[in-house]
Amino acid sequence: MKDLFDKIYRDKGPLGKWADQAEGYFVFPKLEGEIGNRMKFQGKEVISWSVNDYLGLANHPEVRKADAEACAKYGSAYPMGARMMSGHTDLHEQLQNELAAFVNKEAAYLLNFGYQGILSTIDALVGKDDVIVYDVDAHACIIDGVRLHLGKRFTYKHNDIESIELNLQRAEKIVEQTGGGILLISEGVFGMRGEQGKLKEIAALKEKYNFRFLVDDAHGFGTLGATGAGAGEEQGVQDQIDVYFATFAKSMASTGAFIAGDKEVMDYLKYNMRSQMFAKSLQMTLVEGALKRLDMMRKMPELKEKLWSNVNDLQNGLRERGFDLGTTSSCVTPVYLKGSIPEAMALVKDLRENHGIFCSIVVYPVIPKGLILLRLIPTASHTKEDIELTLEAFSAIRSKLESGIYKKIAERIMGKASVEAN
Ligand SMILES: Cc1ncc(COP(=O)(O)O)c(C=O)c1O
Repeated sequence: MKDLFDKIYRDKGPLGKWADQAEGYFVFPKLEGEIGNRMKFQGKEVISWSVNDYLGLANHPEVRKADAEACAKYGSAYPMGARMMSGHTDLHEQLQNELAAFVNKEAAYLLNFGYQGILSTIDALVGKDDVIVYDVDAHACIIDGVRLHLGKRFTYKHNDIESIELNLQRAEKIVEQTGGGILLISEGVFGMRGEQGKLKEIAALKEKYNFRFLVDDAHGFGTLGATGAGAGEEQGVQDQIDVYFATFAKSMASTGAFIAGDKEVMDYLKYNMRSQMFAKSLQMTLVEGALKRLDMMRKMPELKEKLWSNVNDLQNGLRERGFDLGTTSSCVTPVYLKGSIPEAMALVKDLRENHGIFCSIVVYPVIPKGLILLRLIPTASHTKEDIELTLEAFSAIRSKLESGIYKKIAERIMGKASVEAN
């Protein structure tokens, strides 16, 4: 019999195998200082493009004050216990009501963390006779939620309406036999590529097929739509979304999340989402902090305007310089370059050390082999100077990549064979 840990010693996994070269720098880097446009990395100031603080709320003085006052008032324990047992308060209810109004839904329910929350939402919405149809590029939390499902599930090609229809037809055949229903899941904004889910086209399919629509709008909430209600509002189909999900981890610059929809559905979920029923309630500091942030999102449209002015300047500037931003239709700004993983490492090192630019890097197996994705998240706290410096830096690193300089650096460090293999 094998030792359970044999596989751990043998194989660290697709990302873990890079730990020796990457940890502390490319993965698990320590960004220090106050969250904002300029932060510190390994003691040096960098322009930070990798935090999802879209509206620049993380260090807004009013937010910091509200968080500090709430913590002084309640500590970080209150309320103790799960919502159902001893962790329920008026302020939790107030926040739910305000969130529901903000996203134009009848009711909302708070979740401790988005990841566990959506996982249990999916788990609670479907039974073994039901079928889930979901985007092949869905976020890990959706995939894990689907993994809990005991019935059939089908993935459709990313954002592809023809493939969605095909899979809805497959699903229909099954539920005709089982007597179940269909849950279709999309993201409002796909966080890697930045493109919006085709919510309008998907909603239109409700004329032909009978399904319920769950949307994970982590990146759309606060950034899209006239009032910031998200991708559904932006595309004019918020009322067609049956269960709307968003996290506080991005525009709200906090921790926690919520779902919203019809009151009867929210009431059902509140009594059936296992990760919420059997876990501690969201702390009051986070609840009061979220109320403050939501208030600012309602009363300070200039935050979203500043965000979009920066998004447009950055994305237009990159496009004018001939960079490939793929299909983004949101604030998420992916820049696609061609190169190996070792080249990507040398390039990012140059960006950080010599240009003071910190952005996230995504490589195979998250994206196809041979592609490098540099992912920039513009926020309301970035300045025109930050954008200008970044555009110049990107032009400089592309020239070096194309002239093979990073390849030579990588070969010197890792050896020719290793560069060629990756
Ligand atoms: C699309 C998407 N869904 C869900 C989550 C999980 O939310 P949380 O960080 O609140 O657990 C994230 C990450 O924050 C996300 O990007």
